[in-house]
Amino acid sequence: MKVLVIGGGGREHALCRKLKQSSKVSKLFAAPGNDGIAQIAQCAPDIKATDIDKLVNFARDNGIDLTVVGPDDPLALGIVDHFRKKKLRVYGPTGSAARLESSKGFAKDVMRRHAIPTAGHKIYDKPGPASEYLKNCDYPVVIKADGLAAGKGVTICHDVDEGEAAVKEMMIVKRFGEAGRRVLIEDFLQGEEISVHAITDGRTILSLCLAQDHKRALDGDKGENTGGMGTYSPLPQVSEEVQDQIQDEIMVRTVHAMNRDETPFSGTLFVGVMLTKLGPKVIEYNARFGDPETQTIMARMQGDLFDVLWAATEGNLDSVDVEWDPRAAVTVVLASGGYPREFEKGYKIHGLENDFGPDVTIYHAGTKRVGGEWFTNGGRVLNVTALGTDLVDARKKAYAAIEKIRFDKMFYRKDIGWRALK
Ligand code: AMP
Ligand code: GLY
Repeated sequence: MKVLVIGGGGREHALCRKLKQSSKVSKLFAAPGNDGIAQIAQCAPDIKATDIDKLVNFARDNGIDLTVVGPDDPLALGIVDHFRKKKLRVYGPTGSAARLESSKGFAKDVMRRHAIPTAGHKIYDKPGPASEYLKNCDYPVVIKADGLAAGKGVTICHDVDEGEAAVKEMMIVKRFGEAGRRVLIEDFLQGEEISVHAITDGRTILSLCLAQDHKRALDGDKGENTGGMGTYSPLPQVSEEVQDQIQDEIMVRTVHAMNRDETPFSGTLFVGVMLTKLGPKVIEYNARFGDPETQTIMARMQGDLFDVLWAATEGNLDSVDVEWDPRAAVTVVLASGGYPREFEKGYKIHGLENDFGPDVTIYHAGTKRVGGEWFTNGGRVLNVTALGTDLVDARKKAYAAIEKIRFDKMFYRKDIGWRALK
């Protein structure tokens, strides 16, 4: 089978590597991919993940049997609907179903009507009423742009001044463009946040192993929010009971809700869940695999990813199963100075030629290869994923591998997994 993966980051590198291991995959393509992915797949670097027409043509011209969508933007643009219209098989939710991620207002409405636990909130489409609310509410509050803002449209505000500034940035300065036309003001939830992934065909839910991301740029969860600086799995601090509660009250209810609303969801449902004193609550929905959660999850997944994704598109996910490696996995993101804001590109990367051993995989998130040498080409540059007998061992192996890699302005968090190890 010929498989096309859409996207070009570390997540897509991990999906490609896992798909490549399947005996059913005869040829692997990626669009745009990246120079790291190009070592294992044929890339189409000139086709952006949002060039829907070009992607449709590419899939048709190359006889692609299955397309797997990595990032959120093409899903929000309805790439799945476009592919299906042309009778091309594609893994991911339709544009309507992807609104769970692309519109926070839509997601809140689904959760309210179907009693899915989440933070209380108000929605505003004008700055005046939002400011009025901010004068008398309890702090902290969380202010969010309604639409997609690359993980940056969320501000935690501790007083009315911070609140006003956030509303101004979104609704008047329009830092996030259309995405900030509507804002949500949400109650602040206290607790530990985890990443819950499931693959679903709209009927059956195949739970993937739990992971935890570290979203802040600096050690000790300090600094700005990023797309994610590192992940680990399993999460020994989450009891079976809480896991069951997440399944019953969040995952099952969400898939049922989408069916009842006649926008069935098939694809990857990735829920950011806050473990509060009052039980698990939804922080946000994503309609795709997490990055860098996927790197860690794929390290532990045993079984054929192609079979699973194919079954999800067939609607017979109940026919497949996966096992989980009992070992622990840790992924550390190597980023370029300045990320998540301005950063420079083009620094030479040293050390990738090292032998990192069988338990370590280096994924390329933002690199470029010029004449056999590697250079940085993004904010998140490389992801180092290690398997170990337990978290301590996996972490030791990941950081030992990082010792062998260097580039100017390289930075990374040194405390990935700290909540499980404290
Ligand atoms: P989001 O993009 O919605 O995942 O938000 C980014 C980050 O802001 C999350 O990972 C949380 O750490 C934090 N956050 C979002 N919503 C809330 C909330 N209601 N209470 C506390 N923290 C939140
Ligand atoms: N790592 C969080 C995300 O992919 O949204």
